[in-house]
Amino acid sequence: MSIMLIIYYFLIAFVVLGLLIFLFFSWSIIKGAPWSPTSKEKVIKMLSMANIKSNELVYDLGCGDGRVLIIAAREFNARAIGIEIDPIRYLWCKLRIRVLGLKDKVQVIRGNFFNEDFSKADIIICFLLQSTNDKLESKLLAELQPHARVVSNRFVFSDLHLIGKDEEQEIYAYDLIIPKS
Ligand SMILES: C[S@@+](CC[C@H](N)C(=O)[O-])C[C@H]1O[C@@H](n2cnc3c(N)ncnc32)[C@H](O)[C@@H]1O
Repeated sequence: MSIMLIIYYFLIAFVVLGLLIFLFFSWSIIKGAPWSPTSKEKVIKMLSMANIKSNELVYDLGCGDGRVLIIAAREFNARAIGIEIDPIRYLWCKLRIRVLGLKDKVQVIRGNFFNEDFSKADIIICFLLQSTNDKLESKLLAELQPHARVVSNRFVFSDLHLIGKDEEQEIYAYDLIIPKS
């Protein structure tokens, strides 16, 4: 095999690998939002704005490394379910929950939250994109119980009922007082 042919194959392998890596990391963006963790202080503020009570069930849509789930369970004595589409972040999150001994209170699901049912949620937490919130809103209105609250980091919902906002930190809290049709 000539050296040129080896270089040619090497280049093709390099491009294919680059494409696979790109697709792998852009998958969660295509499905809803890129990875960007929320600070601990902001998570506490978001959960407080949801008026969270002991033993309530919190869903984090796109739970990343599980920080919202961990804070909800440890500092608010809540139960929590996280849904994460990225397999590496899912595994990391699951490992953290196990190591911290929280697996009785926290469950992590690997998948797309658009395919999950939210009817058991008391609180929904999300940090996504505006286009994803827009797409998600009708699902929240259709599935959530009347007492449920939704808190969104940075992006808004237009049809949910705003119950509180922190403009500086861009946190928006909602409830569902809109009657179901
Ligand atoms: C901005 S990060 C927020 C992570 C975490 N909730 C936090 O506040 O620290 C968004 C996360 O949502 C995940 N994600 C995006 N679209 C998703 C989908 N359709 N289903 C499940 N997870 C998704 C991404 O992989 C990413 O980890």
